[in-house]
Amino acid sequence: MVPKLVFATSNAHKTEEVAAILGEAWQVQDLRAHPGVTLDEETGDTFEANAIIKAVSGSRGVPGMLVLADDSGLEVDALGGHPGVRSARYAGETANAADNRAKLKAELSKLEQTAPFSGRFQCCMVLARDGAVLHITQASVEGHLLTEEQGAGGFGYDALFVPEGFSDSFGVLSAETKNQLSHRARALEAMKEQLASLA
Ligand code: IMP
Repeated sequence: MVPKLVFATSNAHKTEEVAAILGEAWQVQDLRAHPGVTLDEETGDTFEANAIIKAVSGSRGVPGMLVLADDSGLEVDALGGHPGVRSARYAGETANAADNRAKLKAELSKLEQTAPFSGRFQCCMVLARDGAVLHITQASVEGHLLTEEQGAGGFGYDALFVPEGFSDSFGVLSAETKNQLSHRARALEAMKEQLASLA
């Protein structure tokens, strides 16, 4: 029987990526399959602190099950590492991805420095069960930011981020390519051995 893994998110894009990266070895369910599970507020100052909050609170809602949580975001060097842990709410508490991209473009346009703007996506993954942390991994993908969106694929800031070694944004590159080199793919790769030992 294929083991189940609860991914503590309601972000369908992230779930799609995690399910594709893990392949057939795991049946990945997110919080849409567990509507009664609530996650504690992300009050941490780091990706790790917030991923722990999500994994631990999520795992308390599904006793005995393995729960994975990811906290991720974009760091832009010329903006002192912002939006960072506030990536999902950069343009305000109720901001959507388009609002956040607009805010990022506006902030970049105010800078004296000109392109290229270096940055990276960061991802911390935490595995938990019954309120206890089992394993933590963190990974990033370096690249640069565009000042105009390129492509309609992916989600979040994908259309503004070109990974190192490529000339197209994650909004243009295929899901297969992104899932081989993204921050999420690398953090999950580092988690695979631990997951296999618990399957
Ligand atoms: P979280 O759900 O609190 O981890 O928020 C992560 C936010 O960072 C997302 O809402 C996106 O804005 C951004 N982000 C994280 N990973 C990616 C990615 O792979 N592509 C584009 N944006 C991302």
